[in-house]
Amino acid sequence: MKERPVSRRDFLSTASAGSLAAAAAQPPPAAPGKAQAGAPALLGGQPIRSRPFPPWPIWKEADEKAILPVLQRGVWSRDKRVTEAEQRFARMMGAKHCLATCNGTNAIYTAFRALDLGPGDEVITTPYTFVASIQPLLLSGALPVFADIDPVTWQIDPDRIEAKITRNTVALFPVHIIGGVCDMDRINAIARKHNLKVVEDACEAHFGEWKNRKVGTLGDLGCFSFQTGKALTCGEGGAILGESDALMDRCYSFHNLGRPHGSVVSKNKSGHPIVGSKCRMAEYQASILMTQMEVAVAQAQTRSENAAYLLKKLAAVPGIVPRTDYAQVTHTAFYYFGIRYQKDKFDGLHRDRFISALGAEGIPANKGLGVIEGLPMNKEEALFAAFQSKLYQRVYAREKLAAYPAENDCPLCDSLVEETVGFHQRMFLGTKEDMDDICRAVQKVYDNRKKLV
Ligand SMILES: Cc1ncc(COP(=O)(O)O)c(C=O)c1O
Repeated sequence: MKERPVSRRDFLSTASAGSLAAAAAQPPPAAPGKAQAGAPALLGGQPIRSRPFPPWPIWKEADEKAILPVLQRGVWSRDKRVTEAEQRFARMMGAKHCLATCNGTNAIYTAFRALDLGPGDEVITTPYTFVASIQPLLLSGALPVFADIDPVTWQIDPDRIEAKITRNTVALFPVHIIGGVCDMDRINAIARKHNLKVVEDACEAHFGEWKNRKVGTLGDLGCFSFQTGKALTCGEGGAILGESDALMDRCYSFHNLGRPHGSVVSKNKSGHPIVGSKCRMAEYQASILMTQMEVAVAQAQTRSENAAYLLKKLAAVPGIVPRTDYAQVTHTAFYYFGIRYQKDKFDGLHRDRFISALGAEGIPANKGLGVIEGLPMNKEEALFAAFQSKLYQRVYAREKLAAYPAENDCPLCDSLVEETVGFHQRMFLGTKEDMDDICRAVQKVYDNRKKLV
């Protein structure tokens, strides 16, 4: 592994000012779950850890060697390297077709436009996601409709979907959030019953599996992101998986300015048979993706083993409730390791203070993905900005838009948003000792909760 130079930002995210002072002296390891001695690092004590966690992204000589010929060849936009990457990703995932895109947001946009999503259409999805799930729906003039989450798995609750279906519903849009997996059996069954399409947002769930089948291959179309932080990355990039030749031809054509492709043919031989955008992956992105795919499965396995170890250890700490998957999930992706932080068990210690205290101990944590802006997607500002636009004002009845906030209320998601704490996937690429450190730091903050309040 080539060690990236540690930037100031990385350094500050993995070590606190207190930890800098104490960098040389690591306290001896103590059994997790046992009381941790010493003052909290946030109050000037010695931190649990001063070593950084594994960096991300990780690249090797193989990545460098592979990209040079691409640069030298002089063909930098979509060509044979992208096709190779598509074939390889399709094979890895067990999908018939893969279309690479410039990023995950545009994978979702392309998928929905290929399905002809447009003004007046409704798509049922989860409020507990990142804004990139929702923007493509708004760009299409469609209405996202939110079904509340399952508080245990954090995924869209299938029990709440059917009540949201109207004659305008065209698709279900489950998001496998933070690497967990939605209940795809129930979601697909509802879709079949009501003749709806299923598009999976698998942007955070590379290699996640439902009954031994990879997420992204379980609905009509599955969308992925290869953005820098993701568990499989090429900096920026995305992909769509699908089984239907005709639908994937439409995706291809849309992502290539509406040019003819396969069954999408031009009537006058030189025209563009459909409306399209340009969302193509570049050759150098594909080159990085190819070499990253070589190590991605082993990395996913390491994450799983470390996360399973941490899960057991954390069970000893009160007030920490990890996200749990459905029994049918055969592989969890762990884009983030998510816990619910129950502040009442920590004598009211605010979550922000808990996160700062962990940071001071050398353990970077955050409020979880999708909520960096602090709002679930049913309260997202862009949604209400769209409602003010000419298009939405013309298409949707005033009463419908006025009733929207109440009809899309999702209290279970609201409480999850208040409680989430997440640890990024890169932290799970190291050793069991790294996991012990996370657990010891959580325990130490718990032991010192009264002092930290
Ligand atoms: C749930 C979810 N959907 C969609 C996206 C969009 O992917 P990208 O950042 O590659 O555009 C992301 C990632 O940022 C995401 O986390």
